[in-house]
Amino acid sequence: MAATATAARVEARGRRLAWVEPTLEMAVLGAFTIYATWVVVLNTTGRYGPYLSPFYSPPVEIRLAGFLVPPAIWVAWAPLVLRFTCYHYRKAYFRGMFGHPRACAVAEHERRPSRYRGETGLWAVNNLHRYAFYAIVVQMVFLWYDVAAQFVYQGAFHLGLGSLIMVVNVICLSAYTFGCHALRHLAGGGGDCFSCHRVRHALWRGVTVLNVRHGRWAWASLATVVATDLYIRLLIFGVIPPAWWV
Ligand code: FES
Repeated sequence: MAATATAARVEARGRRLAWVEPTLEMAVLGAFTIYATWVVVLNTTGRYGPYLSPFYSPPVEIRLAGFLVPPAIWVAWAPLVLRFTCYHYRKAYFRGMFGHPRACAVAEHERRPSRYRGETGLWAVNNLHRYAFYAIVVQMVFLWYDVAAQFVYQGAFHLGLGSLIMVVNVICLSAYTFGCHALRHLAGGGGDCFSCHRVRHALWRGVTVLNVRHGRWAWASLATVVATDLYIRLLIFGVIPPAWWV
């Protein structure tokens, strides 16, 4: 009897706090959107010394009628599309922003006029995810190159705090990207016989290792991307003074 009452109390508390996680996720995603928009639209460089911001990799400089188009525009669309169509973030904003659907196997609110119809209509745009993923795989090559390249600066070996931040960032981004649900489907989807396709099976198992914590990698990599860009931007703005360790 006491156990039943405790379970009921825990469930009631869980329901009361059910809004906390989606709301926090929406707040973080909203803050990231504002920061990314500022970086992409209102800044023209992401380089300081050997460091290059992930928003600016690969660096593309195109002038139109004499004006430099913000270089991050040519690059940042792919990671931003990947993030906003990512299955994990979809869950966050469908639940946190729209409450529609509220959760798996939770009935729709009786007063809601429309029923959740999956990714149809305007939401079909989320099908861009796999194409953004292909673009990101190319960008990952550049990001790893940037990390390797910053170890050599002005003809000498270089190691600074920024090196460490960039290494952590590229690892988190790789774990996020290569745990993508679309990649997991590419690796293992559409086949009924894993033993007939040993390479695909091995690839699927590898992706699955990252995929089971895809949500954590999504938030971790979001944080490291911002931390990397912010660090480089503070150096550019002179907020962090040049020193041997930068
Ligand atoms: S599902 Fe999240 S990156 Fe593809």
